[in-house]
Amino acid sequence: MNNEKILIAPSILSADFSIMGEEVKNLEKNGADVIHVDVMDGVFVSNITFGMKMVKDIRKLTTLPLDCHLMIVEPWKYVEKFAESGADYITVHYEACKERLEETLNLIKKCGVKCGCVINPDTPVEKIENVIEMCDMVLVMSVFPGKGGQKFIPEVLPKVEKIRKIIEKSGKDILLEIDGGVNKENVGIIKKSGANVLVAGNTVFSAPDRKEVMEALRTL
Ligand code: DX5
Ligand code: ZN
Repeated sequence: MNNEKILIAPSILSADFSIMGEEVKNLEKNGADVIHVDVMDGVFVSNITFGMKMVKDIRKLTTLPLDCHLMIVEPWKYVEKFAESGADYITVHYEACKERLEETLNLIKKCGVKCGCVINPDTPVEKIENVIEMCDMVLVMSVFPGKGGQKFIPEVLPKVEKIRKIIEKSGKDILLEIDGGVNKENVGIIKKSGANVLVAGNTVFSAPDRKEVMEALRTL
């Protein structure tokens, strides 16, 4: 994924699971840049979605990067399996890893997969400052994780700006992803704050014209 342009990453959490294959192919056809795969274990968040097998099966259907957002406890136990299943990016929560975050990011790298760290809306940037430069992507949650269709939390924008400054100072090619409640109304201010990978679940899957809405998120 390149850092110059805005990348749209629809979240398949909002897809119709009974036709997931068609949904993924439809996203690619309609111009998605990335497939955002929301993995939930019912422990780290009070919701359960899917695991490695979903990644393995959709891997066969698309060449788009699979961006696996692990909302699970002890993610280090599953990194290799997600890598083997075909994940291109694996992002893990600071809140799930804490002092094992750097070790987990290194494990992702060792598996030949691009790594990322995630912070919840109420987690300060300081908690991940020491690992940002080793990441291929940083994900800032603009909702509390666990479900789609929630309201964007604008108070996270200063954190996006702060991380953007850290990335610029590093001179490294690190993507800055935002996740939760992104829509046509707030996408302008979100991009201004420095995010360049936009996750969108409800906004894309509830749109009558997915191509139009993804293009709008990219250009508004
Ligand atoms: C929430 C997930 C998000 C969510 C985004 O826990 O991590 O990726 O699916 O969906 P919307 O865009 O509907 O908030
Ligand atoms: Zn997500």
